[in-house]
Amino acid sequence: MGATRDLDERLADQARQSILTAEGSEHQRLRRLVSPAFTPKQADKLRPFMASTINSLIDAVAADSDVNGRRHCEVVAEICEPYPIPIICELLGAPVADLDKFSTWATGVISGLDRDANDKIDNILACREALEEYVVELIARRRSEPRDDLLTVLIQAEEQGDRLSEVELVTMVEAVLVAGVDTTRNQLGCAVALLAERPEVWKQLAEDPDIAPTVVDEVMRYIGAIRGTGRYASEDVVIDDIAFPQGTIIMVSFVAGNYDSEAFASPGTFDIEQHATDSQHLSFGSGIHFCLGSFLAKAELQVALPILARRMPNMALAKPVEWKSAQVTVWGPERLEVTFDTTTG
Ligand code: HEM
Repeated sequence: MGATRDLDERLADQARQSILTAEGSEHQRLRRLVSPAFTPKQADKLRPFMASTINSLIDAVAADSDVNGRRHCEVVAEICEPYPIPIICELLGAPVADLDKFSTWATGVISGLDRDANDKIDNILACREALEEYVVELIARRRSEPRDDLLTVLIQAEEQGDRLSEVELVTMVEAVLVAGVDTTRNQLGCAVALLAERPEVWKQLAEDPDIAPTVVDEVMRYIGAIRGTGRYASEDVVIDDIAFPQGTIIMVSFVAGNYDSEAFASPGTFDIEQHATDSQHLSFGSGIHFCLGSFLAKAELQVALPILARRMPNMALAKPVEWKSAQVTVWGPERLEVTFDTTTG
């Protein structure tokens, strides 16, 4: 996603082969083949698993001792970071027994997005190799024993006799990890940081989980974890009378669109009712690269937030939020310390 940085050649090579960066007919073909695997139904099946994942993370936090009758939680490390990996593991159909090793490799592969990725190249490549070997084995197992998981759907995905090759399948799994884990973590962190200062919405979410879809949409409009993307003009192109000569790198701001007063009334106000009926926000992108995992990501947030709100009542910031540098690709809180009342639930 976005313009390529000055990456180590071995990392850049990988980036070029992925759906995240492929263009033209190559991208269209990949997208057509894999889209049927990313449906609302596929995402909804995982909701019970998402609920049990978030509940066990809160159990661990709730077991900490009280400080003056209030519990304390550093939401980024204790909730957001660990939340999405088991879900992606379950989505792909990796056995639960493999969760720890899968998480270690996935974390290593995802660290390829970090600004200091070149300094960690040995670990990133070792994790990628281990993950690839594992996925190749998993593919072989799923070919002989198909199951109701994403990997099986991807293996069986076929259009007019065309199928994903084994290399493409492995690359797709990595793309899902790279695109689907850090984004969800950071978006959840953005949501909690925002709602920590809106106690009335937090309370409403606890009492009425049905408002979660509108809260998630408005949170993502107001404060999206991906704030823009980059495009490279591979040929001369004219858009709205503006000429972009071949070789131009164009940075597009999603934030500008999300705060466009022609699309959203009073865009600077966080307003779940008003903006529920406005245009769609741009935080999942737009056009041919529109986020393939949007149903899954929304489900993850819609499940997590009401449970957090119910089990962490009267949540408030313990310290001002420490935000990541504005230059990172996936943005959100670096540290988010909150306190909340104890519950029995
Ligand atoms: C809240 C969490 C998420 C956010 C904010 C997000 C945001 C985005 C954005 C902005 C793009 C388009 C980038 C561009 O145009 O350059 C994108 C693409 C993509 N996302 Fe997500 N995403 C999230 C979660 C996920 C999840 C959970 C998955 C997978 C399970 C996923 C898979 C993808 C893929 C595969 C693409 C590339 C699609 C293509 O190029 O055709 N994303 N995402």
